[in-house]
Amino acid sequence: MKTIDEAIRLRPDGFTDRSIYTDPAILEQEIEKIFKKTWVLIGHETEIPEPGDYVRKTIAGQPLIQVRGNDGKVRVVYNTCRHRASLVAIEEEGNCAKTNFKCPYHGFEYDADADLVKVPKEEAYGEWFQKEEFGLVELAKVDTYNGMIFGSFNPDAPTLKEHLGPAMELFPYVTYGDGEALEMVDTYKYDIAGNWKLMIDNTMDGYHVPYVHGGMFEQFGISADDGLSGVARTLGHHGSIDWEEGRPLADRTTNRYMAIFPNITVHYNASGDMFAIRQIEPIDVDNMQLTMWLLAPKSTNNREMNERRAAAFTMTWGPGGLFGADDARQLEWVQQGLKADCGAPVLAARGLDEGDVAEWESEQSMRGFRLGWEHYMDQD
Ligand code: FES
Ligand SMILES: [Fe+2]
Repeated sequence: MKTIDEAIRLRPDGFTDRSIYTDPAILEQEIEKIFKKTWVLIGHETEIPEPGDYVRKTIAGQPLIQVRGNDGKVRVVYNTCRHRASLVAIEEEGNCAKTNFKCPYHGFEYDADADLVKVPKEEAYGEWFQKEEFGLVELAKVDTYNGMIFGSFNPDAPTLKEHLGPAMELFPYVTYGDGEALEMVDTYKYDIAGNWKLMIDNTMDGYHVPYVHGGMFEQFGISADDGLSGVARTLGHHGSIDWEEGRPLADRTTNRYMAIFPNITVHYNASGDMFAIRQIEPIDVDNMQLTMWLLAPKSTNNREMNERRAAAFTMTWGPGGLFGADDARQLEWVQQGLKADCGAPVLAARGLDEGDVAEWESEQSMRGFRLGWEHYMDQD
C-alpha cells in the first residue's frame, strides 16, 4: 500500500495513483491544504445585487454567508453567532437590510455590514462587553474579478491576481472580459457520485468528446471526429481548452473552456453565446456538488435572447442536458471503476513531450492542474 505522500505524486510519465480519487484521508488533506489555503470561488455578484441581499454558502465544509452590506460592499462572513455559535442565517437566501440577521437562539442581531447591533437584555454582560467587538467574523480575504466573488481562509494567501496569474491573460478571451457587467440568466445545482477532481479532468479533456458525446453528435447528423480542432494548454496551475484556436472569433461556433485552480471551470459557447461558470465542491471523496451559473452581459441583454440562451443552456450543460448528463453518467462509471483494488495507476500522458501547449486531445491542462494540486498538497 502506498503512503499518501507517495500516492499524490504525478509521476513524470503521467501516471497517478487511483487513491487520489478514492481515499477519504486525501480529501481531508485537500480541504486543509488546498481549499483552506488558496483562493476559492464563493459565488457571483449577480446573486446579491441589492444592499442586504445574502446567500448562504458552504465552502470547504465551512458555513458562510455572502452578503452585500448596507454600504454596498460585498462581504463573506462565517454563519455563526458570536454568542453560542448557532447559525444566524437560516434561510438559504434573502434580504436582511430591514430584518438583520437575527439569531434564532437568543435573539442577537447582526446587520448587513456584519455588525452586532442588538443584544437582548445586554446589561447582564457587564461593562466590559462592547458590541463593536462581536460582529460576525469575516473571511480572511475577499476579492472580486469579472463579477466572481473569491475568498480565502488564509490570511497569508497571495493576492487574487497573483493566484489567477496566467489565467488572467486568457480570461477576457474566454469570457466577455473584465468590467463587463453581467447578470444571471439561469442557475443549476446538482450532485454527481464522483470525486470532485474528475469533473476538472473531464472539462479539460477533449479526447472523450467523440465517445461520450457521440450520440449527441449523431442526433444532429454530424460526425464528432470531423471538424474538431484546437489546443489544450497549461496556464500555471490552471488550464484551458480551445476548440477553434486560430479561427477568427466571429467565425467560431464551438466552445472554449478554462479550469481555474482549484475548483472552477469557465465555459463559453460561441454558437449559443452562452457564458457559464461552474463551481465544483467536494461533498465526500466520491461525491461532488456542482453549481452552474449562466450569465449574460447586461449591455447586450434582452429577454428574448436570454430565453434562447437559457433553453440552449438546459439542452447542453444542464444536469439533463446533452453534454451534462453524458458526462455525469461517465464520471459515475469512472468512480465505480476506481474502486477496483487492482493496483493499476491512472494514465494521463497524452502529449507528454509537447510542453505547455498541444493539440486538443492532449492532457496538458489536466496535468497542469495536477501539478498545482501536488504543489499545495506538498505544503505543511
Ligand atoms: S447563540 Fe445566538 S443569540 Fe445565543
Ligand atoms: Fe464532456
